[in-house]
Amino acid sequence: MIPQEYIQEVVARNDITDVIGSYVQLRHRGRTHTGLCPFHSEKTPSFVVYPETQSYYCFGCGAGGDVITFIRTMNNLGYVEAVKFLAARAGMPLPDEDDKAGKLRSRILEINKQAARFFYQCLNANNEQASAARAYWRRRGLSDGTIRRFGLGWAPDDFRSTLNWLRERGFNEEELLASGLVKRSEKGNLYNIFRGRVMTPIFDLRGNVIAFGGRVLGDEKPKYINSPETPVYKKSRAMFALNLAKKSPSRRYILCEGYMDVISLHQAGFDTAVAACGTALTGEQVKLLENYADEVVLCYDSDEAGQKATARSLELFSHSPIKVSVLTVTGAKDPDEFIKKFGKNRFEMLLNGTHNALEYKLGKLKDNYDLATDAGRVGYIQDAIRLLTGHITPTEREVYAGRLAQETNVSKASIQSQLDAALRQADRREDRRRQKELLNQGTAAQIKVPYSLGGEKALGIANAEQQLLAAMLKNADFIPLVRSRIQPDKLLLPDMQQACQAVFNCYDRGVTAELATLAPEVTPETLSLLSAILARNHDVAITRQDVEMYLDRIEQSFPKSAQAAQMSPEELEAYIRSLRDKKMKK
Ligand code: CTP
Ligand code: MN
Repeated sequence: MIPQEYIQEVVARNDITDVIGSYVQLRHRGRTHTGLCPFHSEKTPSFVVYPETQSYYCFGCGAGGDVITFIRTMNNLGYVEAVKFLAARAGMPLPDEDDKAGKLRSRILEINKQAARFFYQCLNANNEQASAARAYWRRRGLSDGTIRRFGLGWAPDDFRSTLNWLRERGFNEEELLASGLVKRSEKGNLYNIFRGRVMTPIFDLRGNVIAFGGRVLGDEKPKYINSPETPVYKKSRAMFALNLAKKSPSRRYILCEGYMDVISLHQAGFDTAVAACGTALTGEQVKLLENYADEVVLCYDSDEAGQKATARSLELFSHSPIKVSVLTVTGAKDPDEFIKKFGKNRFEMLLNGTHNALEYKLGKLKDNYDLATDAGRVGYIQDAIRLLTGHITPTEREVYAGRLAQETNVSKASIQSQLDAALRQADRREDRRRQKELLNQGTAAQIKVPYSLGGEKALGIANAEQQLLAAMLKNADFIPLVRSRIQPDKLLLPDMQQACQAVFNCYDRGVTAELATLAPEVTPETLSLLSAILARNHDVAITRQDVEMYLDRIEQSFPKSAQAAQMSPEELEAYIRSLRDKKMKK
């Protein structure tokens, strides 16, 4: 039995959009994401992911559930296997192995700490290698204070000294190999991987050293060697200098490509500079940044690779509440070089004149056209208008339409009328899509009541029961109210009885009632039904009055529903008919 807290942690660390996004190409639509359903074949997307309730639902085939259900169905796994799969994905230790893995992790952290101390000591030693290394950092413009602040160092140019230093401190082979600082040669001897490089330690948020980046002093290749992934280092989740940046009062972060950029920026006083070290930015890193930043300025290298990375990152941030903008360094290859060439005041000016994502994209579009020609202007306007019909505010639209008019020397009225036409077209497309979705929802919302006659009334009650469950899942404040008036076994639908009981159980245990926590107590069919109910209510705010109404409806219609639950389908049918007749006589 996996503890409930562990499952909650697994669910919390596996954002459903990220997980599903790695199997299904998702498109952002307001507060939801849609894509082609992976569980049945279709040409138009009817598969919806709801970040707010961390659930998904397919309006085409009715598949639905939480992140665990998704992984189960997708990979054909059992419940426990699926939980373990997601735990591994989030880099969590397995529940039972917790202790052993935990011990190894703390040993590796200790190794890294000792190694960082060694490298720092080697940088400040009294020998030729050390002074060459110090001269290197000095040449890069770093002060002693910066070197200390970042814990920079030097790894001596040999295969053994780091290794021996660590061995002397009592670490065994297994631990040393697991740290990634040491490897075994074909002959079977251990050796250290960082040799003759200036060293930059990477810290986690608690200040543990989790990895290193080592750079050669000259132009040799490879320029950088980085620690491999280890039990304490997951590249996709690490963020260089976030441990320092998080102390800044500012919530405007500067995201760079390289260690050197970050270090230079900090030295120049820009203390929110961070970098995704050695990899392209990931969704996990964006999530991590959301805890500290309201705004991120992308500040990548000015070369083509940097611009590609900018476009990719903009895409990642488009799913995030973080406001993103782009700073383009001109006259230098990266922010580090820029600061050295033009000083921090000029950089500050760039920072304050950053382009928002839309401006940046417009600028990129413009580069594709020669605005001196008529054809170029027409092409640019067409492309730009497409961009302006996207998800932006009317004010932004107004401002950029005006700017477009100026740039192309075309009257604002003409731009505006083209934009209006494009917007109307987009609206019509959206309307058609909505209509279709509603239609599909209609079929999905069909409630299976376990008898055919007495339909409408029973449907009404069943609907009230489903809405009641939605209300409790969306807002736990309703649970005590519902509980004071309803006993789960009084409900008409067996799935809702089960679900209601499970919600109450969670409540009693002080656990948030959500799909993931209900899952162990209800059947997969019920879970899928619940996700459908949540999907249906995604945009609906259920008020206290609504809840009262559902409760009234359920109570009035089934004063004796405790018995009703025990009835055979035929008896139930007759009972509902009698209720209806009674009402008609009134
Ligand atoms: N990088 C890497 N391996 C390489 C080259 C680069 O891991 N062989 C990573 C490093 O994290 C580096 C980042 O990519 O910081 C950006 O690369 P680059 O711009 O070349 O590095 P800088 O930090 O700017 O280094 P420098 O200014 O010293 O050339
Ligand atoms: Mn660089």
